[in-house]
Amino acid sequence: MELINSLDELRQKIREHKQQGKTVALVPTMGNLHEGHVTLAREAKKVADIAVASIFVNPTQFGANEDLDSYPRTLEADSEKLAAAGLDILFTPSVETMYPNGLEMQASVIVPGLSEELCGASRPGHFTGVATVVSKLFNLFQPDIALFGEKDFQQLMVIKRFAKELAFPIDIIGVPTVREESGLAMSSRNGYLTAEEKQKAALIYQTLKLAKEDIEKPGFKVEEKSIHSLCDHAQMYLTENGFDPEYFTLRRAEDLAVPVATDKELVILVAAQLGGARLIDNITLSRAG
Ligand code: PAJ
Repeated sequence: MELINSLDELRQKIREHKQQGKTVALVPTMGNLHEGHVTLAREAKKVADIAVASIFVNPTQFGANEDLDSYPRTLEADSEKLAAAGLDILFTPSVETMYPNGLEMQASVIVPGLSEELCGASRPGHFTGVATVVSKLFNLFQPDIALFGEKDFQQLMVIKRFAKELAFPIDIIGVPTVREESGLAMSSRNGYLTAEEKQKAALIYQTLKLAKEDIEKPGFKVEEKSIHSLCDHAQMYLTENGFDPEYFTLRRAEDLAVPVATDKELVILVAAQLGGARLIDNITLSRAG
């Protein structure tokens, strides 16, 4: 695996591969890699000739009071994992390389609406930071395919939307969430949990699964009253167990709109603080009929 940190070298390598007619699959990450990231890397290797990844803790997607400075940086272990997964190129740019004119006057990619709700409501500017850095990575790597985790469901939708609307000729693939045995979605931020909190954190997925069972029952009506009652109940349950829930909500899977009775493909999304970690998760479901 080649380690690259300059834009020129990256562009040159990609050009060489493209001239040989090779297809490229990209996995953008912020490092501190776990089995979820490695699964994306293995998938990338399966779907293209050349599998490439980036590790960049992107400052523009962190809010002022968030964990930018303390975000775990574990480059050596990460590059071993990616090399073992068969990756061809790992790009690890500095902040100056990605944002040569500083962070303030940076041109940006804004996805209105979708970026402002759910996680975007409590993290203003977050998805603009994500969309901006991912579009920059798309321009640098010129991938045929890019892979993202369904764990970050809203992020995946934001990326799919700007890629389509800005006409990036890239196939965006969503990869199912990789979980611990307990059901807890793997996340770099799980490292902020104590051993006891980590055990408790599994309740998030259990609550999602129970809510899914309820909504899939033929008697459940997808209407405001029953959705509210179910989501309030779930939030209360999480609160009673020591979580500070931010949202627990049922949405249409296609566009995260509030669902109506005729919608078949739905997603339940949750964000909750537990100890020092902000945890997110989701589960999709299909209504019969
Ligand atoms: P990061 O949190 O490092 O995640 C990198 C990729 O791994 C994302 O596509 C994310 O959805 C995926 N991922 C994380 N946990 C996963 C899990 N348990 N199962 C499957 N996939 C998982 O998401 C980001 O970085 C950044 O916002 C980024 C897209 C790199 C832009 O800076």
